[in-house]
Amino acid sequence: MAYLLGIDVGTSGCKAVVMASDGRVLGEGTSEYPVLQPRPTWAEQDPAAWWRGTALAVRAALARASLGGGEIAGVGLTGQMHGAVVLDEADRPIRPALIWCDQRSAPEADDLARRVGQERIISLAANPALPNFTATKLLWLRAHEPAHYARVRRVLLPKDYVRLCLTGTAAGDVSDASGTLAFDVARRTWSRAMCELLEVPLEWWPAVAESPTVTAAVSAAGAEATGLRTGTPVVAGAGDQAASALGTGIAAPGLVSATIGTSGVVFAATDGVARDPRGRLHTCCYAVPGVWHVMGVTQAAGGSLQWWRDTFAQPERAVAAETGEDVYAVICREAGAVPAGAEGLIFLPYLMGERTPHTDPLARGVFFGITPRHRRAHFARAILEGVGQSLRDCLELIGDLGCPVREVRVTGGGARSALWRQIQADIFARPVRAARGAEGPATGAAILAAVGTGAYASVAQACAAIVRAGEEYLPTPDGVAAYVQQGEVYRALYTALRPVFVAAARG
Ligand code: XUL
Repeated sequence: MAYLLGIDVGTSGCKAVVMASDGRVLGEGTSEYPVLQPRPTWAEQDPAAWWRGTALAVRAALARASLGGGEIAGVGLTGQMHGAVVLDEADRPIRPALIWCDQRSAPEADDLARRVGQERIISLAANPALPNFTATKLLWLRAHEPAHYARVRRVLLPKDYVRLCLTGTAAGDVSDASGTLAFDVARRTWSRAMCELLEVPLEWWPAVAESPTVTAAVSAAGAEATGLRTGTPVVAGAGDQAASALGTGIAAPGLVSATIGTSGVVFAATDGVARDPRGRLHTCCYAVPGVWHVMGVTQAAGGSLQWWRDTFAQPERAVAAETGEDVYAVICREAGAVPAGAEGLIFLPYLMGERTPHTDPLARGVFFGITPRHRRAHFARAILEGVGQSLRDCLELIGDLGCPVREVRVTGGGARSALWRQIQADIFARPVRAARGAEGPATGAAILAAVGTGAYASVAQACAAIVRAGEEYLPTPDGVAAYVQQGEVYRALYTALRPVFVAAARG
């Protein structure tokens, strides 16, 4: 039996998982760090905090598993996608990283789209110019912080910065690189043409490999910080969405997953490069060689409920503190007592603008239809439902691309709530099923490490051995009917409010 370690450099914290090669999770460790929001819709993190969090999480996971670092056969890395970690000639971060949900480069993205044309950008990078992608963040840096920009010698994604600290090697993988806008997703290599259009040197990006390939080994400094053994192999790994999809058992086209983490993602693997001509879905290389994927992204899914918890859920926090329950469990129990449709209260989850289906950084969160009848629990339920409607928008577009959507595998923190699973089944009008055994991006990264170090011959073989389908939730006729009606108003609201979002942004 081999033991593998998966590390997820997430948005709210780092998670490390020790997994046996048969899929048993032996120990987990987590360590939180903040998102810095110097202005509304800006979001930054300190790369040093990721590395400190990683070291703490790895040590905690090893201790829980009662294993020494020397017993780990391989490490897999995953993490939040699209961030821009800019390094100087000594590989030191020049400033905090702009992360995936940061919207400040919207003008630069618009400018690029106008100058080059979205069609040409989609033909080269399989994705449109959006403020979420790494490359448009670099354009913002060039325009607004030229002294910082002049010092850039290397650009890494978040998990790849952690790899640099852990191994001393600058490397990346094809799935995460797909979310930079500087990558030729069809050819699975950096795009010289995109780099020329962006006027960003090709040499700034690290060498990339397919996700299960060993590309580095733990250095002496990495070993000292984490407790791992010097020389432990580290595989290329994957962006968090690809790694999370592995944990739901998606190894080939056919299944669709819906993940509710801070963001929400609906995900389908494809045989070839499937491009949405309007760029509302992201198209990426999958963590399985020779396979691609499409995904629709809700910017603030779990993030919306987290905002509600932190800002308005003092009573639920007090109950949780008294009973020892999780605050989210208390919030969801109360929301469960409200009928489907929240008696007309509707939430648009656009707290950080929106990607799918609107690609609109100016959109904002909305509660609509408030009456004196509505209590706090209605608001919580409206949030669960609004996120569900947004994921349904993603699902529709994936269906339109020709991907079969028979059953949806649900995962992420949001999938822990039975209520949220049932809401998803009713809004999607399709059965949803939890994945059992290998939940979360860190476990997906450990699966890649298992393949890279020879425990399995392929990712498909590893997923088949490790991932089991869990409980099934069937759509209910009443729920489906309530959400079809809600969906009409939900969709009409964005259309009606779009000019107002634009006017509000003009100030
Ligand atoms: C995916 C995306 C987020 C981040 C953070 O496109 O932006 O899911 O990867 O989880």
